[in-house]
Amino acid sequence: MQRILSRELPNAIGQQVFIRGWLNNLRSLGKVSFLVLRDRTGFAQVVIESKEELAKVASLQPGSILSIRGQAAASQSAFKAEIVEPAIEVENPIREVPPIEYYKPEMQGDLEFILDHRPISLRNRQIQAVFKIQAEIAHAYRLYMHDTVQGVEYFAPNIIGASSEGGAEFFNVDYFGYTATLAQSSQLYKQIMVGVNERVFALMPFFRAEPSQTSRHLSEGKQFEFEMGFFNHWHEILDIQEGCIKFILQYLHRHSKAEIETLKGSIVEAPADVPFPRLTFKEAQELYFERTGIDERSEPDLSPAAERELCAWAKEKVGTDLVFITDWYVSKRPFYSFPNEQDPTLTNTFDLLCAGTEITSGGQRRHAYESMIEGIRMKGMNPAHFEDYLSIFKYGMPPHGGFGMGLERLTMTLLKLKNIREASLFPSDPKRIAGNRIKAHIFFGGENIRNEIIRRCRDKGIQFEHKAHEPTPTSQDSARARGTRIEEGVKSLILKGKSSKKNYQFNIPSHLKLDIKAASEAVGEKCEFEEPAAIQERFGLSVGGVPPFGNLLNLDNFFDEEILTQKKAAFNCGLPTESIIMESKDLANLAEPKFGKFAKS
Ligand code: 4AD
Ligand code: MG
Repeated sequence: MQRILSRELPNAIGQQVFIRGWLNNLRSLGKVSFLVLRDRTGFAQVVIESKEELAKVASLQPGSILSIRGQAAASQSAFKAEIVEPAIEVENPIREVPPIEYYKPEMQGDLEFILDHRPISLRNRQIQAVFKIQAEIAHAYRLYMHDTVQGVEYFAPNIIGASSEGGAEFFNVDYFGYTATLAQSSQLYKQIMVGVNERVFALMPFFRAEPSQTSRHLSEGKQFEFEMGFFNHWHEILDIQEGCIKFILQYLHRHSKAEIETLKGSIVEAPADVPFPRLTFKEAQELYFERTGIDERSEPDLSPAAERELCAWAKEKVGTDLVFITDWYVSKRPFYSFPNEQDPTLTNTFDLLCAGTEITSGGQRRHAYESMIEGIRMKGMNPAHFEDYLSIFKYGMPPHGGFGMGLERLTMTLLKLKNIREASLFPSDPKRIAGNRIKAHIFFGGENIRNEIIRRCRDKGIQFEHKAHEPTPTSQDSARARGTRIEEGVKSLILKGKSSKKNYQFNIPSHLKLDIKAASEAVGEKCEFEEPAAIQERFGLSVGGVPPFGNLLNLDNFFDEEILTQKKAAFNCGLPTESIIMESKDLANLAEPKFGKFAKS
């Protein structure tokens, strides 16, 4: 029998059907059980009444691969159709409990935890919806650029010889003994391609060595690139950018209805008949000042708060979430930016802000050879590194320009996601490579951990006192042995998540007790104290010696805020018979914890 998909089930009522997919969940209500199967189009409900059939699946975990034959029947449930009298075949039984409850409609747990289990958290229907929409965004972009703009798609290299955007935000790689650069954008190549095809576009990877961990920066992403030659006015680039966004939104409303619903319908607004407001940079600064009284008019850049305010203004004034900011200072734009004809301190460039965040930068480029050399020199770069690129200006370039729009920024802002990592399948940032946490060095055993703490203190020039003493069973004993006050002691506890079995570290002032409810809330699952034997086996530590350095054990590390209210912090440094005393701010700096309220008296 031919397999049908869950989506097709309502059209097959009354027929014998055959479906295949992943077991999503199984719910037993006395005599009847409801099995939900996931396939590439969604979910199908299977009603099981036979004891033999139920026995085949009763002990299986989500993810088991099943094939099911049965009768399609109309259903009162949200599924509209279901399969009754099923005959189930278990193709691949899964008995391992998944570490994350991806099969629930809305997943619990914080983003870090979700990313720690990326390959399977992607199966969650809301997360899947984000990336199905992202695929449609990319498709719509190509359609628009190909059919409406009549551009030619290009495919540029990513390992290149020189930085395309200047600045320090690029990665070097060892290339057969030479130093090569990972492309920050395909800027140079899209301009080269304008000399060939006039209008060109691409979806290209970019790499940025952004050391700061923010909610809108990745170290690797994708950029929608566009470049065109022969305009009458450079604002024609803005017209194409605006048309492109409106086309993408209309396309999503037509093709991604179900996914938008899964995400509770939140998507930005850009009504087709409302032009995106266009403000110059100076006007934008004035407007921000007028609306908030915050004076950033002598700043060369817009602050994130100003970007949010300008989008709020556009929404209030004309009902769109997008606004263009044009005419930025030379100092803030790359070497290739075209100087403004009236004011040489400005450039013919723009950013597009969407729902509070920059999604695009673009503008007109220098197109005369001498001008380009001047631009490169002005930014302290060496024209000799740009030989290939510079040749196009020697041999004829028209007035031209374009834009680069981040795929992840666009996805994030269109869908009103809070963090750009939610819009990247396998996000890279200073703490992760392709979604994986960059493994902390894991230190094992009291002596090793103590030595590492001392090494890090010396490295950073941090003052500390190291004391040996008798084992100290209580906090009072510790305080006495160390010659500190009890409030200055830090108690380090290792917990275990009841569902994930993952360990966490919580650190509290030693005269207080752990508020395990608050701790559970902070990590997104119920927690209990880890067994001393497990702590010994996993970390080589006895309970009395655990130091407040969960980061050295590769654990999420949490500090109760009160720790910082004391000037000094005293703690066991890996062994029950040794303590270290240092300033609590230095401890926080070394242990890199998240802060919260986790203690009670
Ligand atoms: O503003 P950027 O750096 O401009 C360029 O790359 C130019 N070549 C564009 C041009 O045609 N003149 O990057 C363009 C866009 C940003 O607006 C942002 O959406 C995205 O690329 N982007 C990043 N997204 C996430 N993380 C990062 N670190 C990003 N850097 C740039
Ligand atoms: Mg930019």
